[in-house]
Amino acid sequence: NRVLLLYSGGLDTSVMLKWIQDEYDAEVVALTINLGQPGEDYDVVKGKALQLGAVAAEVVDARDEFATDFILPAIKANAIYGLAYPLFTALGRPLIAKLAVEYARKHGCDTVAHGCTGKGNDQVRIEATVATLAPELKVIAPVRGWMMGREEEIAYARQHGIPIKGGAETTPYSIDDNLWGRSSEGKWIEHLDHAPDDDVFQLVTRPELAPDEAEIVTIGFEQSVPVSINGERLGLVELITRCQDLGIKHGVGIVDHIEDRIVGLKVRDIYEVPAATLILQAHAELERLVCTIHQNQFKGELDRKWAYLVYAGLWWEPLRTDLDAYMNEVSKQVTGEIGLKLYKGHCRVVTRSSPNAVYDAQLATFETSGGLFSQQASPGFIELWSLQSRLAHRLRERSAE
Ligand code: ARG
Ligand code: SIN
Repeated sequence: NRVLLLYSGGLDTSVMLKWIQDEYDAEVVALTINLGQPGEDYDVVKGKALQLGAVAAEVVDARDEFATDFILPAIKANAIYGLAYPLFTALGRPLIAKLAVEYARKHGCDTVAHGCTGKGNDQVRIEATVATLAPELKVIAPVRGWMMGREEEIAYARQHGIPIKGGAETTPYSIDDNLWGRSSEGKWIEHLDHAPDDDVFQLVTRPELAPDEAEIVTIGFEQSVPVSINGERLGLVELITRCQDLGIKHGVGIVDHIEDRIVGLKVRDIYEVPAATLILQAHAELERLVCTIHQNQFKGELDRKWAYLVYAGLWWEPLRTDLDAYMNEVSKQVTGEIGLKLYKGHCRVVTRSSPNAVYDAQLATFETSGGLFSQQASPGFIELWSLQSRLAHRLRERSAE
């Protein structure tokens, strides 16, 4: 039999590549997916897979699909889980698993193997996707069963001639990253009273080292799609990368977060999410400007539901696409430009413009009454608006007497 291994090139999946051949007497096809992890050398990863005995090693550049089919719906849904996490890993997993299914079929594999632990969300996201798209495929997750800690894995690697230098193995943390962000877990991060050590920040400049000059950047949107930076039109992957660079430079997008995992655990995560911070903040602001009070109050609830479904590994749940239909309807109005000021870890909206703004400077002004807004009508409004509250208040006062 043949196993399709989701291969990152790191220690866990390299040990796995050998282990599966020995333990299952199976052939292994390695699949590595480029979702925009900064600084990854895919030729090296591919070479390593073949050297470790993979019968084939595939590298897929899925950045465009990731941006268009996964990040963009997340932007339309202002997707944040737990007030802080823009879901970059949660968005990547269903795509990774979908590609695993495609390549497993292409290479005649009967099994998909992944490197997730039994304690996390990622196993749920990957296995729920495979079970949905290809119920005929088996899934194995060796880390859940092989009982090797980091030291044992390193020993196993030495014993089997698996190179263990460079890349992910040089950092002591458990890392996941892509175009939309980077997470670090493990080591001191598990001690809640331990403030972040500087070495965890491998992406974003620490705010105290960021430039003394603030920078203003304008992001343009057309129907919720970010299309330009400072007037220059860019494709989505390029635009996200530019926002990432700007955030990195100004120390923007550091998150230190306690998260409720779907498997019951509470875990602390350090996130570096420069691009998501700029784009989500600008998008949410523009949406508030072009929507009515009623749309704005309602959409927040749907946004939260969308983020929770995706966090919880239910990307293929029909409610998610039902919600997308609503998001797409709202996004028809979300066109305009938002200016952000970046300065030493902060990102703040400073300018807004939209042809669809539900805003009239004539009506809103404190200067001279333009006659458009009838201030004479306000006392009558206040009387009716407060009617029930006043009645209820009086009743309570009487019964307290
Ligand atoms: N806590 C985040 C999530 O559940 C990040 C997970 C990071 N995954 C990883 N394999 N390091 O999506
Ligand atoms: C893992 O446990 O495999 C990574 C973290 C997660 O899935 O939440």
